[in-house]
Amino acid sequence: MDIGTEKNGGVLTIRIDRPAKKNAITAAMYAAMADALHAAEADNAVRVVLIHGAPDVFCAGNDIEDFVMAPPNAEGHPVFRFMHELAHAAKPLIAAVNGAAVGIGTTMLLHCELVYVAGDAKFSVPFTRLGLCPENGSSYLLPMIAGYQRAAELLLLGETFGAEKARDAGFVTQVLPAGEVLEAARNAAAKLAALPAKSLRTTKALLKRAHLRQIDEHIRAEADAFRPMLTEPAAREAFAAFRERRKPDFSKCA
Ligand code: COA
Repeated sequence: MDIGTEKNGGVLTIRIDRPAKKNAITAAMYAAMADALHAAEADNAVRVVLIHGAPDVFCAGNDIEDFVMAPPNAEGHPVFRFMHELAHAAKPLIAAVNGAAVGIGTTMLLHCELVYVAGDAKFSVPFTRLGLCPENGSSYLLPMIAGYQRAAELLLLGETFGAEKARDAGFVTQVLPAGEVLEAARNAAAKLAALPAKSLRTTKALLKRAHLRQIDEHIRAEADAFRPMLTEPAAREAFAAFRERRKPDFSKCA
């Protein structure tokens, strides 16, 4: 199974575990993560959720073959369930990031309360480079967290950036040596799990109160734009270029 889950001491740990494909996420993996987040909501034994990847890669984003062969073109697709569960998680979310975090690998961090990253971690939201547009509420969350120009730079240029820039953008709690990231995240999870669950839930609900409606609205608007773009010439060229390990040529794309 490409998603591992483990419940221990009030912490549900979700491990993205598909090393051969750099933890790129398939429909089945979105479904497994959405199910785990959903079950955590009703489970009194879970007080906090921790998400991590492999020591060398957090997540290479949506599986590009899936984008081509099984695009998320229906509202019921597991990716939308995953985004909904992330946005509506009542319990605190913690992420531990080593290596690359691409696309939804970065945008899922914007939904987390605590994000621990390695000094050599690499982030990107390369949607324009793929002929796509932002997803997962990132067109709302990134400007809110990072400020408009900083979000515009990251989302328009789509370049890869490092841990310091991610911290400057405001979505990183702490930058650590690679070998200490998961332990720091686990320590924070244990601290939260020892606190009164209702206080955590209420504090998180109040933190999100002003934003949840906008996040939902953006996820919907982004998906309405994203879905048809997946089969347009620019995305088709970008996916072919990825497969053929070459630079895409968008000169003929609208
Ligand atoms: N979807 C499908 N397969 C992917 C993938 C993705 N998003 N990301 C990586 N892979 C696969 C590669 O095709 C390759 O498979 P192969 O060994 O069968 O040829 C394998 O994972 C290793 O990838 P590779 O690119 O050789 O590793 P790397 O260490 O040089 O680079 C990344 C790692 C994550 C920086 C790079 O793979 C990458 O940029 N991936 C695409 C990210 C992306 O655009 N995601 C979509 C965002 S919306």
